[in-house]
Parts: sequence; structure tokens; C-alpha cells
Amino acid sequence: MTRVGIIGTGMLGKAVGLHLLESGYQLSVFNRTKSKTDELSQHGAIVLESPKEVAHTSDLVFTIVKDANAVKEISFGKNGIVEGKHDSLIIADMSTINPNASRDIAKQFSHYGITMLDTPVMGGPNVAINGKLVLMISGDKTAFEKHKKIFETIANKTFFLGKNGTAHSVKLSMNLQIAMLALALSEGISLARGAGVDPKVFLSILNSTYFKTGMSENKAYKMINDEFPPTFTLSNLKKDLDTINEAAKEFGLNLPISTKANEIYKKAVDEGFGELDYTGILSYLQKAAKLAN
Ligand SMILES: NC(=O)c1ccc[n+]([C@@H]2O[C@H](COP(=O)([O-])OP(=O)(O)OC[C@H]3O[C@@H](n4cnc5c(N)ncnc54)[C@H](OP(=O)(O)O)[C@@H]3O)[C@@H](O)[C@H]2O)c1
Repeated sequence: MTRVGIIGTGMLGKAVGLHLLESGYQLSVFNRTKSKTDELSQHGAIVLESPKEVAHTSDLVFTIVKDANAVKEISFGKNGIVEGKHDSLIIADMSTINPNASRDIAKQFSHYGITMLDTPVMGGPNVAINGKLVLMISGDKTAFEKHKKIFETIANKTFFLGKNGTAHSVKLSMNLQIAMLALALSEGISLARGAGVDPKVFLSILNSTYFKTGMSENKAYKMINDEFPPTFTLSNLKKDLDTINEAAKEFGLNLPISTKANEIYKKAVDEGFGELDYTGILSYLQKAAKLAN
């Protein structure tokens, strides 16, 4: 059976790992903060001391870390992946990063004879734990075909999109939806509340219409109770908006609404809302609205 590795066992990496273990895979893991591997270890994962060791003992290694700099560090830094290279090693990067940065990283890996696939996903830990992610893949098709069974274990929908970088371009377009939906929902709730309408009434009407979303049908009910336990942090969504705007510029595009959204999420992070779930943008917007009065 294919030996799988995960480098980065934060919220998403841990959930993907638990599902792989439950599906019967042999799994090796590394995380910079070791305590975040404890639960995986209890479920049978082998905890190793460096990305190099994970690469050395795995055929397919998922990298699931914060941003492009973190991917570079675990790949090419001291005791990084390339130091553990071997003939059957393939990397699948699930971190959300800039498509151009991803192409550069794939190129750098190729100098070491290592194939890197881009494998960004939609769906958070609660979805990953049941193997129901939506997976976008780009890069070498033969490498994709070789490990298709594993990709289909972690996702219930898999889209192969061609050359390196493409999957990340689509992923950024997806996260732009998340950022905007959370803003629209938050301002809708704030307006209804401000007008003296119970936000539950607002939600039940919204969810009776064509304009309902997964967010309005699920997380919104936590939002109106001021509950923001993170499955995807506001700080990581702000990081993605930075990347969306950076990539747009590189593609010669001006995305005015994404630029504005980036400013809003940045202020929320600066004011200490970064470790809430991204839907905690409601909390920030309510505070900001009050300050403006
Ligand atoms: N959560 C979601 O719903 C979701 C969905 C799709 C995509 N993503 C993407 O998946 C990635 C991980 O997200 P997450 O939600 O799991 O975030 P998270 O819980 O904040 O975990 C971030 C991970 O990155 C590691 N990391 C950060 N900087 C690093 C560095 N310089 N060197 C080595 N490791 C580093 C962290 O290690 P430490 O523990 O040592 O800090 C941790 O393992 C992000 O790119 C995110 O945008 C998340």
C-alpha cells in the first residue's frame, strides 16, 4: 500500500490525516509544533522529527501549511523535503498559495527530480474528516493517475485542471466567494438586527429563497449566537485575500471588491479577531459599525 505523509497537521492537515488512518493507510506526520500531532499519533500515525524524515519514508507527501513561505521552508529549508528525496517521492501541496509561487516551487522541486502536484481543496476539517473534500488538482497527469485512489479517498469530487498553478487560480476564485459571502451575510444580519428584526427571521426568509447558501443554512445560526469556533481562521482568510489581490495584480487585473474586502479583513485581524472563525467578521463589523456612530 502507498505510504502517505503529511507535513502540517493544523486544523485541515489533522482532519485529512485522521480520515486516511481510518481508511487504512500507513501515515507519517510532522508538524512544527509537535503537540498538534498527538491525536494523530493516538490513532496510529507515525510522528517524525522533520519534513526530511517524512519524505524519506513516504511515497506521497501532502504539505498542508499556512502559506507559500511555509511551503518553501518545509521543502527547501534545513531538514526539508528535498533532503529526504527518493525515486518514488511525489508531493501534493494542499496549502492555499499564489499560483505563480506554486509554479516556482514545482519548478524548484523538479530540479531535484521531484514531482509536485497542486492539490488545493474546498471544505474544512468537518468535511475532511469524512473524506468529502472537493479537490482541485494540477500538474503532472501521470503522478495524478498514480495516486488517484488516495485523492478519491480524501475527496468526493476531484477535478484535474491541467498545468501546475491552475488549481490554485481556481482555489483563489473559490475563496473570494467565501470572503464575500461572509461579508454579505454579516451585513444582512447587522441590518436586520439594527432595524429591530430577529436575525433568525432574516435567516429563515433568506433560506427560503434562491439566494440561500451552505453558509446561510449552517454557520449563520452560530453567527447570530456570537459563536465563532474556528474551522478556518479569519487570519487565514485574510492571508488568502492578500494572495487573491497579489495574484490579480500579477495577472494584470483590478478586482475592486476584493481589494475592499482585503482592507476589512486586515482591520479585523489588526483588532484581534484573527483567531476566530472567518465568520467572526460579523463580530468585527458590528463593533466597527458601533464605533462609527
Ligand atoms: N481550514 C480550512 O477550512 C481550510 C480549507 C482549505 C484550505 N485551507 C488551507 O490549508 C492550509 C492550512 O490551513 P489550516 O486551517 O489547517 O490552518 P492552521 O490550523 O492555522 O495550520 C497551519 C499549519 O501551518 C503550519 N505552519 C505555518 N507556518 C509554518 C512554517 N513557517 N513552517 C512550518 N509549518 C508552518 C502550522 O504549524 P504550527 O502548528 O507549528 O503553527 C500548522 O501546521 C492553509 O493554507 C489554509 O488556507 C484550509
